[in-house]
Amino acid sequence: MGKDVSEFKKEASAYAVELVESGMVVGLGHGSTSIHAVRYLAEKLKTGKLRNVKGVPCSFQVEEEAMRYGMPLTRLEDLSSIDLTIDGADEVDPNLNMIKGGGGALLREKIVAQISRREVIVVDESKLSPMLGRKRPIPVEVIPFGWQFQHTYLQTLGASVTVRRNADKSLYQTDQGNLILDCNFGPIAQPQHVADLIRQRAGIVEHGLFLNLATDVIVAGSEGIRHLKREPK
Ligand code: A5P
Repeated sequence: MGKDVSEFKKEASAYAVELVESGMVVGLGHGSTSIHAVRYLAEKLKTGKLRNVKGVPCSFQVEEEAMRYGMPLTRLEDLSSIDLTIDGADEVDPNLNMIKGGGGALLREKIVAQISRREVIVVDESKLSPMLGRKRPIPVEVIPFGWQFQHTYLQTLGASVTVRRNADKSLYQTDQGNLILDCNFGPIAQPQHVADLIRQRAGIVEHGLFLNLATDVIVAGSEGIRHLKREPK
């Protein structure tokens, strides 16, 4: 029987962790792939293959996991930059642009990505896409105050918009206490243009289009691992 998506995620995470060097500060993204990476990093620290590596988690959940595995953490407030971040993605196009935020952590993930010298994205091959928006909606984080007006605004841009809810139908809340509007624009030919339009309202905090941020994309699939690269920032 062939490997499944979960195996591919593990393989790509293990590959990404090999890019981490002793002494680095490492951004820890959110999602199942990032949690695999945390586990591998913690293991390498425990066995002495890596030394003095500290992590900056992008979500409360990953922070908890990291502490459980004994991964040393540091606070963004005490840093001037991050050496390398390992994170997942929901959809990746041929220019290494991405849609992120399926797990709801897009705001912290983008803050961390923007200050990382190297942004290493780890995906299984099902996340690759010829054009963003073909597979996933764009998650948009909005503050609760007046969120319905942002919902209407995003519809006027041509998106079909759904407010994210928990399994019990209550409104999903991000780690910042904000809401997520999942915006299906269909295939997006000009992602920068759409990103600029989304940002034009005060109650919109951030969106899940991550443009020109990934320096490396590690793709695991049935044919093995591929390492796609953009010039480092
Ligand atoms: C989290 O907010 C997202 O940006 C994740 O990076 C994304 O959902 C990837 O999740 P998996 O690693 O679980 O596929």
